[in-house]
Amino acid sequence: MAKIDVAKIERLGVEFEKKTPQEIIHWAFNKYGDRISLASSFGAEDVALIDIVAKIKPGVRVFTLNTGYLFPETHDVMSRIKSRYNIKLETYEPFTPLEEFERGYGKLYDTDPDKCCSLRKIEPLNRAIADNLDAWITGIRRDQSPTRANTKKIEVDKKFNLVKFNPIADWTSEQVWRYIRDNDVPYNVLHDRDYPSIGCAPCTRPVKAGEDARSGRWAGKGKIECGLHPSGTETKK
Ligand code: ADX
Ligand code: SF4
Repeated sequence: MAKIDVAKIERLGVEFEKKTPQEIIHWAFNKYGDRISLASSFGAEDVALIDIVAKIKPGVRVFTLNTGYLFPETHDVMSRIKSRYNIKLETYEPFTPLEEFERGYGKLYDTDPDKCCSLRKIEPLNRAIADNLDAWITGIRRDQSPTRANTKKIEVDKKFNLVKFNPIADWTSEQVWRYIRDNDVPYNVLHDRDYPSIGCAPCTRPVKAGEDARSGRWAGKGKIECGLHPSGTETKK
């Protein structure tokens, strides 16, 4: 893994603020070539990003973490995206198959969701990173939650020791959906059924009118992030 020039990434974070997602993605691929991958849960932001990135870099690496708890509708959009775009989709799964996992732990997503995310999302993510990655691209946006409000379009990901690109950090949800409509991008049909933010089935419920977009994630579990992105409780180094 290449050493990260923290001061330079911080400077670029300021410089990139005015750049479009396309400009940022061009820059990222010039710099990292095949050592960069787009992290996709196939939610609205991620399918928009796949469209943007695949138009710039056909054959782009995209990785997804399949916890075993994804909705059937998520698998469905995954296959529609795969047949529509020229992407190299890499799927990472937990070591322990779901049945064996539940025999050992029961409903860990209820009893200890942090441990469940750690075993079924973060451990596979660590393997994705170990597969020759120096940088990753995500679909996080600033207005998704207070924990994401200070997201830069390029930043140092201290937790995973990667350069992290968030090319649509300053987009609103309306911009994402305009992009999806204008480019006829396949999307998860659950978005039409009051699921603005989609994760694992046992930890995602639809939201009611007026509720926050992420309020359906880990509702009632006292949890707002799964460990992929900073939760605001990490100590800054
Ligand atoms: S989460 O951390 O709460 O699950 P969210 O669903 O908002 O995150 O997604 C934020 C970004 O994290 C996505 O745009 C995507 O880049 C990445 N991401 C989330 N879930 C996955 C997943 N299962 N596989 C790969 N990347 C993911
Ligand atoms: Fe487990 Fe829920 Fe985390 Fe998925 S989101 S890994 S089911 S706790």
